[in-house]
Amino acid sequence: MRKLVLVGISLLLIAGSLGAAEPPVSPNGIALFPEYMNWRVIAPSYREDKGHIRIITGNETAVQALRAGTLPLPDGCVLAKVAWKAEKNPAFPVATEPGAFVQVEFMVKNSEIYKKTGGWGFARFVGNELKPYGKDADFVAECFGCHTPVASNDYLFTKSVKTP
Ligand code: HEC
Repeated sequence: MRKLVLVGISLLLIAGSLGAAEPPVSPNGIALFPEYMNWRVIAPSYREDKGHIRIITGNETAVQALRAGTLPLPDGCVLAKVAWKAEKNPAFPVATEPGAFVQVEFMVKNSEIYKKTGGWGFARFVGNELKPYGKDADFVAECFGCHTPVASNDYLFTKSVKTP
């Protein structure tokens, strides 16, 4: 009986530690937002040179601000860009669909903390291991540099998709 209780307790401990697995953290301190696939869709996109299909999602603050056309976006907004390899559907090759997962990226608005990069904190997690991108926090220069041409749109390329 005592043995069974001990086995039970160890199983509970194992389950507890599995459930509490910490999300990976980017070198600049931004942790992966595990709920990004439950957020609302802002837009899909397709990157020809990389052959990636993406969707851009946002937390409630971001979706509401984008729909209301508020610029710059307020603090607390988070946008996610999720990318998959574009693959032809074998049963219907002119249809291209998402294949293997490539990466998920985030832009987090905090005008104080991320003042130097337009108020946005950047983070990328690569592959099925969700490996944090960047040797150190300087990787953000690459992200910010490429997002600078859209500075007048609060550094965002994506606009909300329109539906009737
Ligand atoms: C070479 C240019 C380039 C670099 C570098 C780049 N991005 Fe982007 N990013 C884009 C473009 C273009 C889009 C528009 C959507 C798309 O391409 O799928 C975008 C979109 C995004 C979005 C969705 C919001 C928006 O602006 O549309 C996020 C989030 C994002 N990028 C994060 C990052 C992060 C994090 C990094 C660095 C680790 C990064 N980006 C580096 C070009 C770039």
